Amino acid sequence: MSDLAELRRKAAGCTACELYADATQTVFGSGPPGASMLLAGEQPGDREDIAGEPFVGPAGRVLDRALEQAGVARTDVYVTNVVKHFRFRREGREGKVRIHRTPGVEHVRACLPWLHAELAAVGPQLLVTLGATAAKALLGSSFRLTQHRGEVLAYAELPLVATIHPSAVLRGPKDRQAEMFDDLMADLQLAGRTVSGLSGAG
Ligand code: URA
Repeated sequence: MSDLAELRRKAAGCTACELYADATQTVFGSGPPGASMLLAGEQPGDREDIAGEPFVGPAGRVLDRALEQAGVARTDVYVTNVVKHFRFRREGREGKVRIHRTPGVEHVRACLPWLHAELAAVGPQLLVTLGATAAKALLGSSFRLTQHRGEVLAYAELPLVATIHPSAVLRGPKDRQAEMFDDLMADLQLAGRTVSGLSGAG
């Protein structure tokens, strides 16, 4: 099962945990096979659940801007999430507003085989985790992003850079948002430099 299109098709019918029942659809990863970097976020948000594509909402716009400023081409990254269905609770009139809920360890565990399959199919040179959920999914529950963000770590013999989630920039206190964006951008720059070093291009 190494072809991305085939994986996407199979993941569309995934019922490995209960999240499929309330979500609109599976949101599989997106990007070219052979991308040098694989970026893993937490789970699709409201917009992504509707569009069926990862990082197309407000957090995606922050990510796009950070990648651009870091000099990393969006076309050379494969973007995905460790959990591929939107977990939410309903609020507001007639329950129309869907509020993000952090996925549980059981959802991460059930979904991880898809990420492993994506890794095998894409064959990136480096991984970037966006936020604590993705970092803990790959590096273990005792991993502390505050202690290790911006370092080149390793997962399954691949270099891994753990950085903050783009939505943390949006949710952060107004007077810290610029600094948080710069941290995200600097970590993506580090990821880009590491890939260039690996391929001898820089
Ligand atoms: N947040 C994520 O972690 N992933 C998305 O695709 C969108 C928002």
